[in-house]
Order: sequence, then C-alpha cells, then structure tokens
Amino acid sequence: MILRESTEKNIYFCHMPNIEEITAHFRMEGVFISARLFGAGHINDTYLVNTGPGNSPDYILQRINQDIFTNIPELTNNILKTTHHLRQKLMAAAPEFERFQIIHLIPSNNGAFYFHDREGNFWRLYHFIDDGRSYNLFENRTMAYEAGRAFGLFHFLTSDMDPSILFVVLPGFHDVSLRLQKFRKTVALDPAGRVAAVKNEIRFVETRAEKMVAIQRLGEQGKIPLRVTHNDTKCNNVLFNAANEAIAIVDLDTIMPGYSLYDFGDAIRTGANTAVEDEADFRKAVIDLELFEAYSRGYLSFAGKFLNPVEIQHLVFSARFMTYLIGLRFLTDHIDGDHYYKTAFPGHNLQRARVQFNLLESMEEKAVEMEKIIAGLTG
Ligand SMILES: Nc1ncnc2c1ncn2[C@@H]1O[C@H](COP(=O)(O)OP(=O)(O)O)[C@@H](O)[C@H]1O
Ligand SMILES: [Mg+2]
Repeated sequence: MILRESTEKNIYFCHMPNIEEITAHFRMEGVFISARLFGAGHINDTYLVNTGPGNSPDYILQRINQDIFTNIPELTNNILKTTHHLRQKLMAAAPEFERFQIIHLIPSNNGAFYFHDREGNFWRLYHFIDDGRSYNLFENRTMAYEAGRAFGLFHFLTSDMDPSILFVVLPGFHDVSLRLQKFRKTVALDPAGRVAAVKNEIRFVETRAEKMVAIQRLGEQGKIPLRVTHNDTKCNNVLFNAANEAIAIVDLDTIMPGYSLYDFGDAIRTGANTAVEDEADFRKAVIDLELFEAYSRGYLSFAGKFLNPVEIQHLVFSARFMTYLIGLRFLTDHIDGDHYYKTAFPGHNLQRARVQFNLLESMEEKAVEMEKIIAGLTG
C-alpha cells in the first residue's frame, strides 16, 4: 500500500536505532549478530536480523508506522487471530499447499507480541522466511497465477471466520461515497488553485461516480458478505521460492472486515498492469489480459469454492472500482495541494492519478474480454 512515499525514511535512518537492544525484548532464539534494512515496503521500517550460532533462525524486525496505524494492540490482535486460524486450517483444508508458510509473530518478553519503546515506537518481530523472494511487478504468468492462488487460499481458509471479531484498522478505507464527498469539497474550495487545470480529470471522475458505489450498495443490501480481507494484495506482499511458487503472504497490518472484491480488484490494479504507479508516460498503463487471466485462474482455483454468484459477477468491475478509487484519492490530494501522499516533484499526484485513469480506461475498453475470461474460468 503506497500511502506515503518513503523519502521520510532517509531522515529516520540518520538515527539508526539500536536494533540489538530492541531484539533483546523478544523471545528470540540464538544471539543477535547483525541487522540490515530489508525489502521494498513503503509503510513500515523493516530490518533483517541475523542470529548465531550456526543455523539459528533469522528474523524480520519492523517498526510499525504510527502515522497510518493508530491502534497497534488491536492491529496485532487481528494478525494473531487470523494467522492462528490460517495455521489451524491450512493442512486440513489445502494439503496440496504444504509449501505455504503462515508468518508468525514472536512474543515479546512480557507476553505481548510487540515492544513499545521509550520513544513511543512500536516494534514487532516475525520469523524470517529465508527462501522467499519478493518482486514489485509480476514478471510472468506463472507469478501472477501463483499470487492469485495465494490470495485465493487466504480467502478460502478464512472464509469460515467471523469477520466481526476483527478490528477495523482503517475506517472508511474503501468508502467511495465519503471519498467523493471529500473530493467535491476540495474541488469547491480549490485551496491550491489547481482546479482550472484539471477540468478533464474532474469530469472523468464525475461521469463514473454514480456507478462506482455499486460494491458498497451490494454490501448494504446483503448481496455480498463481509469477509476477512487482506487489503494490500500487491505483488511484493507475496513471497516466491526459486521456482516462482508462492510460499507466503506478508504485510498483514491491514487485515480487517471487507469485501472479497476489494482484494481481487486491487491485485489486478497493481499486478496485471504494464506500468508503475507513477509512470511518467501515463499512456503506458494498460491492463495486461494475460496476467489478468493468470491471476484470476489462480484466485478462482480456491475462491471458486466459496464466492457467491454476485461476487463472481463483479470481479471484473472490482478491478475498475479499485483503480477509480485510488485515482480519485491521488487527484483529490493534487487539488488539495499534496498533503497526504509524499511527492517528489510538482504534479506528482496528478501524474499518479492519470496513470490510474488511463489504466481504468483500458479496463473499460477490454471489459467484454475480461468478462469472457472470468466466464471461461467459472463455467
Ligand atoms: N516474515 C518475513 N519473511 C521474509 N520477508 C519478509 C517478511 N516480512 C516482510 N518481508 C519482506 O519485507 C518487505 C516489507 O515488509 P512489509 O510487511 O510488506 O512492510 P510494508 O508494510 O512497509 O510494505 C516485504 O515486501 C517482504 O519482501
Ligand atoms: Mg508490503
């Protein structure tokens, strides 16, 4: 989830925290040897911790981002409840997926699963999946298929969990009505004097606004159920082995009650796409139908077992919806004067919005083909 760009991290790392001291607060096996920054996440500060002697395990230490996550004890409870359920069900429900690992949190010395330091930072420790590699984009169809399988498995294994036992980590995260309200208010105020130059983009948003509340409405009408959802289903939150098989899902901070369609749609938006989120030439951002087919095939190999017909009917729409929602958020922030997302240059948020809108247009053009692909997979 790119909520904020990470230029701020460079400032943090001038004051490299004492990792050895922090890890001493956890029930870690072995003795601390070294630590280094790790991975390409944009939200938390992530370190790989090596321990000795010999083959004692390595760990992932994270400082949790408190600008975004304000209730870390509840967030941690969500992770514990969900990973416990996943672990219990994996072997019985999907024995063919024995290579799949459920990441687990290491308890701290006082029995909590995080350490709250004197400066107010929250830290947590996970066991390290050492044969896992992560990628920012699907490099081929196998990876897309495997990621689809992994998130399908996640939904399948949690489909009998009561989502209401989970804390709502980010209230209103997918509430497009609320986001449209904020957008319209910002356009009316025009605080940065940018409205005149983005009339086309505003029109693009408004002409689609009415249709985009569809998933919310289906939920309110009880036609699609709330489920346990991951809410950050992008490529680099899946770990792959050397044979490109998915072996774990990471980044569990945003687990909360939601609609399966949000997870499916965001995976397509971020993965079955031909350009990065802030590609300078927005025309390059179009849907890749081969990756879409591969991800959908993997996802439905598990999700076909429990999704209801209304969820299946809206899979293709969900990719458009998530692309619209993120584009709307980038455009709102641009008009507002760039307060939410970190920007590296003037117009950065507008560039990001245009990438999403171009991708959305390409999904509109290819909608019939995408529907045919889903129909072919669901028979
Ligand atoms: N338990 C783990 N084992 C191996 N690698 C991990 C583990 N947890 C996280 N990672 C790696 O660290 C990266 C950042 O972690 P993540 O939890 O996704 O943080 P962020 O919220 O900042 O994206 C991941 O993309 C993955 O490559
Ligand atoms: Mg991540």
